[in-house]
Amino acid sequence: MLNLDSRYYVDPSIYQRERTELFPKTWQLLGPASDLSQRGAYSAIEIAGHKVFAVRGKDGRLRAFRNLCRHRGARLLPEGTGRCPTIRCPYHQWVWADDGRLMNVPWFGEDADFRLEDWRLEEIRLAEWRGLVFVAIEPATTLEDQLGDVIAELRDEPIETYKAVQVERMTFDANWKIYTDNFVEGYHIPGIHPNFFAAIDFEQFKTTAHDGMVRMTAPPREGLFYRGKWLWMWPNWTLSLFDGGMNTSRINPLDESRTELIYHFYFADTSEQFAAARADTIARNLAVVREDFEVCLETHRNYASGDYSPGPLSPRHEKGVVYFQSMVSSIIGPLAAP
Ligand code: FES
Ligand SMILES: [Fe+2]
Repeated sequence: MLNLDSRYYVDPSIYQRERTELFPKTWQLLGPASDLSQRGAYSAIEIAGHKVFAVRGKDGRLRAFRNLCRHRGARLLPEGTGRCPTIRCPYHQWVWADDGRLMNVPWFGEDADFRLEDWRLEEIRLAEWRGLVFVAIEPATTLEDQLGDVIAELRDEPIETYKAVQVERMTFDANWKIYTDNFVEGYHIPGIHPNFFAAIDFEQFKTTAHDGMVRMTAPPREGLFYRGKWLWMWPNWTLSLFDGGMNTSRINPLDESRTELIYHFYFADTSEQFAAARADTIARNLAVVREDFEVCLETHRNYASGDYSPGPLSPRHEKGVVYFQSMVSSIIGPLAAP
């Protein structure tokens, strides 16, 4: 099996196809449900440039909308989490209720054709799974169908009992699929993560592709904070277990050559007594993540140079890469001959 054609990673028109054919049609990890437990709590994110937010209404229901004013297109809520008793556009102060109804258009003037009820916020889909909130703009499947084998994989892990304590965002200059190719293989661990390599039994590192999921496992040696299991889920989120908790991440493209990672760290024990241990786990975890950025950036440059033609993928270590790339190419389709 050969690696994917480098044009999939660097061609802006492919990225535009992903922005219409892939990201809006898949469920995207928004974050922990605990961020949205209070009435009026919101969380606003970007999905490959599409701005959306979720809000807990006064009626207790969670809903999600495009973060886009129906008047002249301003962003309604700043990215991140917070409280918004009313949704007021910062531009001309139109006000929406938390169920998406337009309530007030100050200083608008007389217009016989204008009716508030014609200008609701555009609602998108929202679903919860085990303490995690997902949103989808125009989903092609149910959340359960997309989650596939991760549902059974995590059945015995009490993930909904872990509490989200920290969010970290990191950006780097490489296509999101270069980072994903890298995430779904452990082949690079000896070369890129020497400390991590020393902490696992690499000879027993195993990668398998499943429905909607790639699982990587390796027996940890003494002192590894990971539990020896790393999961990636189609199309762009990950979940790794560590002692007493887990992290999730979403791999979000900013454009065809820039990517942001949004990491959430969750712990079972959030007592003060373990604050230093938690901070240490998070710092070591993030250090491993950052070790991948440079190799992704340099690979992106080589793909962008046009000098690379696809090489062979390892049957032992790159099954996840094959799976991810086959999913991507099934959506984007074959490229014309160069
Ligand atoms: S763009 Fe939102 S009120 Fe004008
Ligand atoms: Fe890595």
